Amino acid sequence: MSEAQDPGRLTAKTALVTGGGSGIGLAMVRRFVSEGARVVVGDLDGSRLSMLHDEFGSSVHTVVCDVTNEAQVEHLCLAGVEAFGPFDIAVANAGRGGYGLIVDADVSEFRSILDLCVTGVMLTIKHAARCMNDGGSIVTVASLNGTQPSAGMSAYCAAKAGVIMLTQVAAMELGERGIRVNAIAPGLIQTPATGGFFDVPGVVEEFMDNTTLGRYGLPEEVAALAVFLASDESGFVSASTFAVDGGGSTGRYPQLRRAFARLAQG
Ligand SMILES: NC(=O)c1ccc[n+]([C@@H]2O[C@H](COP(=O)([O-])OP(=O)(O)OC[C@H]3O[C@@H](n4cnc5c(N)ncnc54)[C@H](O)[C@@H]3O)[C@@H](O)[C@H]2O)c1
Repeated sequence: MSEAQDPGRLTAKTALVTGGGSGIGLAMVRRFVSEGARVVVGDLDGSRLSMLHDEFGSSVHTVVCDVTNEAQVEHLCLAGVEAFGPFDIAVANAGRGGYGLIVDADVSEFRSILDLCVTGVMLTIKHAARCMNDGGSIVTVASLNGTQPSAGMSAYCAAKAGVIMLTQVAAMELGERGIRVNAIAPGLIQTPATGGFFDVPGVVEEFMDNTTLGRYGLPEEVAALAVFLASDESGFVSASTFAVDGGGSTGRYPQLRRAFARLAQG
């Protein structure tokens, strides 16, 4: 079969992606559509969702949604099913980090990161699974920080470790329906969320030194793994976490505290 006739690895599938308006989620939406899927996108930022319609037309259905709000996540899933039918794929991608030492921590900020990264993922799994065909695939987005600690990132590290465990529990609970649940754990990926790292001298260099490949990653490289996990090619893969970190798990996380202190001193 020629490339022009290739039906795509996700043809006739319906996917849900949270946080699909930017960065890694946007790259997943782009790749899923190019592989033949129709994609329901939930994101807090309505302006980013409008841009998706310009780029993808009727291949996407978008819903403004805060994944920490259960009623909104339920609405996202039901609206998605109404638009494109039951899901075959769901990606719980929305998340964010933050920096601050525990002794200085603002507990509302700590709770906010846990709420988004852990509760948001749980709610996405809950309602997506209820709206999913048996035999579907759920992908969560954890982080290198789910296993590699960083001083100053207590909430994010704890939350992403939680995502890895939540993924395994969900795989155990949903396996009887043939639903697979796997986590992706990216290292440093260049997205709007990591722009701050690129602004602090020395941080990105340290990230790169700590990988085996000597570079940071691109959102498209995370999306490539998501396609594999979403597709039938990974039919016997579940309850696993896959690093996309250029080998960063072999090193140690950059010394952000030192880098920020250097920056403060000018
Ligand atoms: N970029 C990296 O280096 C990196 C590394 C490891 C893990 N991750 C994880 O990858 C995921 C995506 O990160 P990114 O770098 O693409 O970030 P990003 O900021 O570029 O995109 C995140 C998207 O999520 C949306 N979002 C934020 N809060 C939301 C909420 N409450 N409800 C719905 N949508 C919400 C934002 O509007 C945005 O469109 C996150 O879970 C992040 O923790 C990123």
